[in-house]
Amino acid sequence: MTKQIASDAAASCFSAANINGLTLKNRFIKAGTFENMTPNGVPGDRLQRFHGELADGGIAMTTLGYCAVENDGRLNENMMYMHEGIRVQLSSLIADLHQRDTLVSGQMGHSGGFSKNRQLSRRRPLGPSFGVNGLGIAQGMFFCDAMSLSDIDAMVSSYARAAIFMKSVGFDALEIHFGHGYGLCQFMSPKTNKRKDEYGGSLENRMRLPLRVLAAVREAVGKDFPLLGKISMTEGVRGGLHYDDAVEISKLLDQAGIDGIITSGGTSTMNPMIMFRGGNILPGMLKTEPSRIMRMILRAAGKSMFKDYPYKELYFLEQAKRIREAVSCKMIYVGGASTRASFDQLMAAGFDFIQLGRSLLSDPDLPNRAQTEKGFVSRCTHCNECVSTIESPQGIHCTQF
Ligand SMILES: Cc1cc2nc3c(=O)[nH]c(=O)nc-3n(C[C@H](O)[C@H](O)[C@H](O)COP(=O)(O)O)c2cc1C
Ligand code: SF4
Repeated sequence: MTKQIASDAAASCFSAANINGLTLKNRFIKAGTFENMTPNGVPGDRLQRFHGELADGGIAMTTLGYCAVENDGRLNENMMYMHEGIRVQLSSLIADLHQRDTLVSGQMGHSGGFSKNRQLSRRRPLGPSFGVNGLGIAQGMFFCDAMSLSDIDAMVSSYARAAIFMKSVGFDALEIHFGHGYGLCQFMSPKTNKRKDEYGGSLENRMRLPLRVLAAVREAVGKDFPLLGKISMTEGVRGGLHYDDAVEISKLLDQAGIDGIITSGGTSTMNPMIMFRGGNILPGMLKTEPSRIMRMILRAAGKSMFKDYPYKELYFLEQAKRIREAVSCKMIYVGGASTRASFDQLMAAGFDFIQLGRSLLSDPDLPNRAQTEKGFVSRCTHCNECVSTIESPQGIHCTQF
């Protein structure tokens, strides 16, 4: 089936397409980029304006980045977590975007053992195994603890509860974050999962929690609701997940009923630059990091964590194609798609949708413009300065345009 899509005349990226009963008016989806526009975890006007501008620019579906499934799944206290206290604000934001003819997906995240959330309900965050919590050092949370079996059950329930809430406030689709070194990825990775029980060891065991989460979310939203999953095809570290694992992981998610797979890479925890490619984010982080201790750590260890990966258009294409060949669910490409020629190439290669991150920060009207300009090239220079705005009081923004 997959090969047939690729050999047929390529669909236009401006044509409508369906994912589990949901029709998107074109193939462009905003990639989840944590906006930092939810002070104290509450969505408001700024977040509405940000997504409203994207809606007016022609995107078929926008994604609210990093919606934590519970308080302890937040990286910091300015992230939203899914609970009744924000129902009114979230419903109104989504209703406004619907009125602007744009669908809304929510990225379901849990930070696991990687957190600097001062409002954590316990002394240390919980991950698959005891380890260092690199993000929490300035907050005195040097380590994370290993989850017990009942902690694992509680995490599955949190995903299910969040999914019910998110569907009820009007989200059109949900994207489960299986990548970038966050909670579920920590279980999937042999680098961070050292468990000796049925949740650690073989790939089958390491996938047990992610697949339980997928099943619980599916049960919560029903069979006719689109569920996407974002994976890291490689963590880019010795002893971590690599491209061959990603093919097996994708097959398991496909068999378990995911509707679409988003093929990213890298981890925020160990090797983030694989994800972004282009300008190194270390100098920007040194400039904006408020904690002196963290700045010292970044100076000492930054070079090994923030490696140089020069920008290349469609940098994940070859590896994502391997997954395209291996699964029958929809495929959503992400990573360095910023020209009309690239969009056409992705359609010809059999991808169903295209997620865009930075090129929508620099050009929020990209879908409308690319439709009329055949030679469209986004203004994004891949300097990656926007990544350092992730903790800015203004929220994320392109610093160049
Ligand atoms: C400022 C910024 C914030 C991001 N935050 C998230 C996030 O919350 N969740 C996520 O999965 N990816 C996040 N990403 C990664 C993007 O979703 C995307 O995978 C990456 O930027 C590559 O796509 P691009 O080349 O279209 O930008 C972020 C990227 C940027 C630039
Ligand atoms: S700051 Fe602007 S130009 Fe630089 S990578 Fe981000 S979106 Fe692109």
